[in-house]
Amino acid sequence: MSQIKIERLALGGSGVGKIDGKVCFVSYALPSDLLDVEIVEDKKSFLTAKIKEIIEPSPIRINPSCKHFTLCGGCSFQNISYEEELNQKDLIFQDTLLRIGGITSGIKNIVPSQEPKNYRTRAQFKVKVENKRLKIGFYEEGSHKIEDLPEGCPLLLDKINVTLLKLRETLESFKAKEFITDIFFEATSKGDLVITISLIKQGDNLRTSLEKCGFTAIATVVIKEKNKASTSLGNKKLTYSLKSKFKEYELSYYSGGFSQINELQNQNILSIIEENISEKVESIVDLYSGNANFTIPLSSYCKEITAVEVSNGSCISAKENIEKNNVTNCTVVNLDTSKFKLKKCEILLLDPPRSGAKEVIPEILRVLPEKIFYVSCNPSTLARDIKMLKENYNIASITPVDMFPRTHHIEAVAVLSKGERFGHF
Ligand SMILES: C[S@@+](CC[C@H](N)C(=O)[O-])C[C@H]1O[C@@H](n2cnc3c(N)ncnc32)[C@H](O)[C@@H]1O
Repeated sequence: MSQIKIERLALGGSGVGKIDGKVCFVSYALPSDLLDVEIVEDKKSFLTAKIKEIIEPSPIRINPSCKHFTLCGGCSFQNISYEEELNQKDLIFQDTLLRIGGITSGIKNIVPSQEPKNYRTRAQFKVKVENKRLKIGFYEEGSHKIEDLPEGCPLLLDKINVTLLKLRETLESFKAKEFITDIFFEATSKGDLVITISLIKQGDNLRTSLEKCGFTAIATVVIKEKNKASTSLGNKKLTYSLKSKFKEYELSYYSGGFSQINELQNQNILSIIEENISEKVESIVDLYSGNANFTIPLSSYCKEITAVEVSNGSCISAKENIEKNNVTNCTVVNLDTSKFKLKKCEILLLDPPRSGAKEVIPEILRVLPEKIFYVSCNPSTLARDIKMLKENYNIASITPVDMFPRTHHIEAVAVLSKGERFGHF
């Protein structure tokens, strides 16, 4: 056992301190905690540890608002108030941008989620039978131990929790319940719900049981048997609204396709982008465009807009959304962005996955769009990529957005404009 004083939080949510001069990351620890910890890993340049005893608690520590906290790996910050979580995320974000990108200017305070609970539109539950009872929940951090969540999860849309409760009752009496491995919920605030149940094999007829219990009336049920094509009972499309300054759009995606997980924050990200467009331009390019979530609202700001997306399914949704919303100036290109030859455009929007957009930076530097909006779900790769643009762009603003309250994830929108050099690097 070792003693440690926690100095700050790291990206990823762990508390950071030092043991005998070596940096140590402690799960669920908070700044100013004095702890007895057990070392879990001893790597060349750092340690990881777990809390054995809290000797002196941090002044920001509170009783977790969820009784499954730390047993379920879903959340990092149920042990501080939401206000404090926002403070800590600001500090983590600023520290990451400085360490990786040398960036100190233009960083705004985080945009809170209007709803720190019941915001999540999808969740993948793990399933197992133990002592003849179903366990439906999430894995404990760093393990395959399922924490059973009989009341659901406070982060999920209510509709998901209510349906999970009912589904659990039905599945308890399902003879072949031990064959179920996963239940995936996708929902929208408009009321759409898709439940995908994955099984090793069917055993008895799950489809009939679910139909009898009325599930197919409230949700689309997809049954996915290992090594077999999935069967779907209903329409696998989910629809949500997104409002631009000019119009409210109805956008859809198919089950399994990408969608922003917090609808209200999706709206806020669009508003940040719109606030930074002062005039209509000739051309916009949207890389990593998904179902055209941002492409469609931005189509009002230009003569023509091009969306580039690698997923065929998302491109199908994008084209359907463009047609349904009567947008006539969008072109969808189904391609890996690394193979896309960027064309001249005044505005470039990037919304890459966690790995960032390194592969498109040479094209950006060749074309040099006037303005770049970089929507990021990983501050590390955001900082790395902005650093690569520093010779040619100024940072107008970088705004963290709390897309994932209670978890350690931080979304952000950076606005870069072509200029001499970064003033404050
Ligand atoms: C964070 S999502 C953003 C989607 C969309 N902008 C939205 O707001 O819903 C990232 C998207 O990038 C796509 N993607 C990932 N790697 C890609 C690549 N190399 N080329 C093109 N698209 C890619 C994914 O399929 C996904 O739709």
